[in-house]
Amino acid sequence: MEASGREQWGSRVGFILAAVGSAVGLGNIWGFPYRAFSNGGGAFYIPYLFALFTAGIPIMILELAMGQKNRGAAPLTFAKLNRKWEWLGWMQTFISFVIATYYVAIIGWAIAYTYFSFGQIWGTDTKAFLFGDYLGVTSSQFELGGLQWGVVIPVVIAWIVIYAAIRGGVKKGIETANKVFMPLLALFLIIIAIRGVTLPGAVKGLEFLFKPDFSRIFDFNVWTAAYGQIFFSLSICFAIMITYSSYLPKKTDIVNNGFMVSLLNCSFSLLAGFAVFGVLGFMAHAQGVGVQDVAAGGVGLAFVVFPKAISLMPFAPGLFGALFFISLVFAGLSSAISINEAVLASFMDKFSVSRQKAVNVYCAIAFLVSLLFATGAGLLILDVVDHFIMQIAITFAGLIEVMLVAWFFNLDSFKEHINPMSDFRVGAWWTFMLKVVTPLVLGYMAISQLWGDLTSNYGDYTDAAILVFGWLVVLATLVFGIAMQFVSWKDEELLTGDVLDKQAGIGG
Ligand code: ALA
Repeated sequence: MEASGREQWGSRVGFILAAVGSAVGLGNIWGFPYRAFSNGGGAFYIPYLFALFTAGIPIMILELAMGQKNRGAAPLTFAKLNRKWEWLGWMQTFISFVIATYYVAIIGWAIAYTYFSFGQIWGTDTKAFLFGDYLGVTSSQFELGGLQWGVVIPVVIAWIVIYAAIRGGVKKGIETANKVFMPLLALFLIIIAIRGVTLPGAVKGLEFLFKPDFSRIFDFNVWTAAYGQIFFSLSICFAIMITYSSYLPKKTDIVNNGFMVSLLNCSFSLLAGFAVFGVLGFMAHAQGVGVQDVAAGGVGLAFVVFPKAISLMPFAPGLFGALFFISLVFAGLSSAISINEAVLASFMDKFSVSRQKAVNVYCAIAFLVSLLFATGAGLLILDVVDHFIMQIAITFAGLIEVMLVAWFFNLDSFKEHINPMSDFRVGAWWTFMLKVVTPLVLGYMAISQLWGDLTSNYGDYTDAAILVFGWLVVLATLVFGIAMQFVSWKDEELLTGDVLDKQAGIGG
């Protein structure tokens, strides 16, 4: 701990591992490969890399600089930039809270499936097993169908790990957890990728993933998919990187760290792409069908298609299956720790309350809410909440963040802060991306996604389900965010601490 009392990472490696641990999550393992496949295969890398360099890395550097300079979780950081912006930090915090409650359910499923792998308990009809036997999915979001104990128990296990990590604090808890999870995750994914690409038929799968369909390049949806993937995957625009960087020491190479975390995250995605499509190629080959017939995204990929592929494995299927699901668990837990820490730290800042006290109350509330996703309606609710949080809430929170900070705050003062401590300097490229390119693309994305969701019901769900679990959840993050701005700070002095004072434009 340093003089100001704020906790600090034990080492630079510790921070990098934790930040990469946050970034690499379910989004990389089941999100990236399928998104790449369904958005032009090899051609997807063009918008993906474009999104990475025009928005992902510039925002990553910005958020690391914001948190490190202002030494606060998102609400404190935004409030220090401008008192009127505190609500945005809270909105991002509440977005993280919502994600935390359903993300843990998916980790729970992965824990259960690690166990199921050993006897391939899912049988031959993996879809019926997932939706029927395991999740007991009901017919609507409003028919809860009671708690599914097969989900509740692994969810409790996941919460115990998350609780232990965030209770232990930045260095002893979070850093230690990531020092265990991340090297193991890398090792497991490499083993899965090697096994995947050496299976018969794997080449066909990889061909699908990498063969470019350049006609898709002109489809704007492919570009917004790339940006969406980058935002969620890098854990930017929902309070996390600001919080993690608030524990960095006063002298830190922000630019280098930003690049390293972002590029390592994308390397994990690529590795996951090899692993997943190698296995899908094998599965298509074994069943005598095309790769496009077996590929699926999200829940379907991990819990329907993969179990089927595992059962077809010629050698040690149980072990291979367990390795895949335990990788999902590790990737998920290291991200879940960061998502929960972002929320916890916001309340610790605001009410100047100790970690030990805050963590018990916080985890108890978050655990209770997460049980909603362990009911028979859990998957249906999760599907709607996740869609609206990703498509609407994060996109708008990101757009407003970039517009406020890049347009109404003196970005040059951040440059003056980070450049002297960084090996590589940020220059006109960084400013241009944040002031022009990112707001334009994000603005387009935000409006088109809003329009899309206003004009048709996502997943053909009922109006009531879309209203309650979509729009109202998004609205709640905003309303709670604004409400928290009116709650006074326990320690007002925090707000006047070390802050960049060269604010330009509105307020101040
Ligand atoms: N960045 C995390 C993920 O990709 C949240 O899942």
